[in-house]
Amino acid sequence: FADDGYRLWQRYDLIKDAQKRQYYQENTTGLLMEGNSPTLTAARQELEMAISGLLGKPLRSSTAIASGVLVLGTPQNSPVIKSLNLASKLVPLGSEGFLILSTTVNNKKATVITANSDVGVLYGTFHFLKLLQTQQDINNLAISSAPKIKNRILNHWDNLDRTVERGYAGFSIWDWHRLPDYIDQRYLDYARANASIGINGTVLTNVNANALILTKDYLIKVKALADAFRPYGLKVYLTARFSAPIEIGKLKTADPLDPEVKTWWKNKAAEVYSYVPDFGGFLVKANSEGQPGPQNYGRNHADGANMLADAIADKGGIVMWRAFVYDNKVPDDRAKQAFTEFKPLDGSFRKNVLVQVKNGPIDFQPREPFHPLFGAMPKTPLMMEFQITQEYLGQATNLVYQAPLYKETLDADTYVKGAGSTVAKVIDGSLHHYQLTGIAGVSNIGNDRNWTGHLFGQANWYCFGRLAWDPTLSSEKIADEWLRMTFTNETAFLNPIKNLMLQSRETLVNYMTPLGLHHIMGYSHHYGPGPWIKDKQRADWTSVYYHKATAEGIGFDRTPTGSNALAQYSPAIQQKFGNPQTCPEEFLLWFHHLKWDYKVKSGRTLWGEICQRYYQGAAEVGKMRQTWQTIQAFVDAERFNHVKMLLNIQEKEARWWRDACVLYFQTFSGRPIPAGLEKPT
Ligand code: GCU
Repeated sequence: FADDGYRLWQRYDLIKDAQKRQYYQENTTGLLMEGNSPTLTAARQELEMAISGLLGKPLRSSTAIASGVLVLGTPQNSPVIKSLNLASKLVPLGSEGFLILSTTVNNKKATVITANSDVGVLYGTFHFLKLLQTQQDINNLAISSAPKIKNRILNHWDNLDRTVERGYAGFSIWDWHRLPDYIDQRYLDYARANASIGINGTVLTNVNANALILTKDYLIKVKALADAFRPYGLKVYLTARFSAPIEIGKLKTADPLDPEVKTWWKNKAAEVYSYVPDFGGFLVKANSEGQPGPQNYGRNHADGANMLADAIADKGGIVMWRAFVYDNKVPDDRAKQAFTEFKPLDGSFRKNVLVQVKNGPIDFQPREPFHPLFGAMPKTPLMMEFQITQEYLGQATNLVYQAPLYKETLDADTYVKGAGSTVAKVIDGSLHHYQLTGIAGVSNIGNDRNWTGHLFGQANWYCFGRLAWDPTLSSEKIADEWLRMTFTNETAFLNPIKNLMLQSRETLVNYMTPLGLHHIMGYSHHYGPGPWIKDKQRADWTSVYYHKATAEGIGFDRTPTGSNALAQYSPAIQQKFGNPQTCPEEFLLWFHHLKWDYKVKSGRTLWGEICQRYYQGAAEVGKMRQTWQTIQAFVDAERFNHVKMLLNIQEKEARWWRDACVLYFQTFSGRPIPAGLEKPT
């Protein structure tokens, strides 16, 4: 029967090696769980399902300690665990961390999975299962792990009609029509998958959503989802359309300082909490791309965010106010607008507001420098917004493993407090002592059988969760885990495919936007090349605005001779990036306009290097396709063919990008394609 990827990385198929099975069986002879809660039940069910699948034998509950038993619970609900006196180890783990310990209980060998809370136990359970799935040693375990970031949230850009903005994996998984009474198994599998990687929040609706989600008819449905997710530690959040008081409240204004408006939101919040007592809060897109917001009333972002924050503060809710703001009527470089609007507001937001900033200053490009707001708002908790769905990254036909992209931003040094002031330290709160911390990923999930359209899109959901838990993990380690759980533990498979994943993002950059080029995708849909695009109405939505190619050269001058967006970064960055000789080559044309004959590091001219990168990128996809052919023996036919067909498409698309961009830019450079590179096909 079809193996279509529905089970994600939670496959739990029988471990074929009988010796290994025997070894794991000896360490999972029974389950002793003294507490009782929906979350512990979820942990138990997961263990039962996984152990019977992986080891081919049921996991029996036990009330006594026998050798090889698994002991699950917290010191509060399990006398056995309490008797182990683990307090000194548990206290530093906070409310979500976990401890997995090989120990002896009553002189019997046991593995203890414990935490300060039931959800910590659940996270520990998933971690323990991963050890089995990835075939690790489980004899001398002493694993402590706690999330470095508090709010780890998926942002669904799902509309109530089930279309998904920038979604490439079918329609929304939220079946509003059949909610609240019909709880699709898929909701539970979604929650399981998220819990397995520590994601603890989900915004159900699009940042561009209308206000209907805040009406009673929908809140009842939201409650049903929240109830289904709760055992898995997954909180529900909603987008709040700023003009909701007018649209569904029949008020004349949505002015955040208007008393009636304030009262309306207070009442609305109370209504939401009456359905969902642990409601997480609101995500808001305001005064961006035509959306309403406080500026419509002469107020600023802090006025808007604080009004909403006040409405939910007493319930512990948070407001995630997005900094993705720009307006085509503002003539300034779009890359500068968020900083210009938000930096002066540092310190004026309420305690329960986070400002949610995209990783780069334009819009989820294949490569961007980190957003200059990171490090620039020490008094306002900033949360990261990454995009998991591949809007500008070939959508769901391109295999692009995004951990290296996320890591590049997280590891980037802002230098705001000297060397080592990385973006990760801004986000995890350690640099500026933020009390609130958060990270969001725009989801790539839809109702396709395999959830993400491209099977390898699952790896992006997975790596987002893993990095949200611990931004210091390496892309390689995460790819290794994911591949082992999703496919096989065979090294003959792992080595080439891990390599393929790790290279895939750089390959895409090469065939789409090498050397700092950006936003040259097709108009509006962003699929395929469109470097020629001009729109007199919206310069900020055109490609020529970003690449600025002329007969002399190419690139966006963001130094003091140009838009000076560079001035938004710390002096150390300004110095390094401001000089084309020291600017990292991957950002060359992001910050500089250079002549076609400018010599780059390879010794080639800029024109020659651009051609080289496009050709190299397309050729690399050809190699990815060949590599995939070599691992056929390790993968079931259905998943093998799925990836194979998509790689065929990706290769065509990479060539399309190469030819379109090289030929278009050639109309400016007037130079031949260097000898040695093949002719366009
Ligand atoms: C991009 C994307 C839009 C989205 C916007 C946002 O511009 O193309 O569809 O609404 O980002 O993040 O708000």
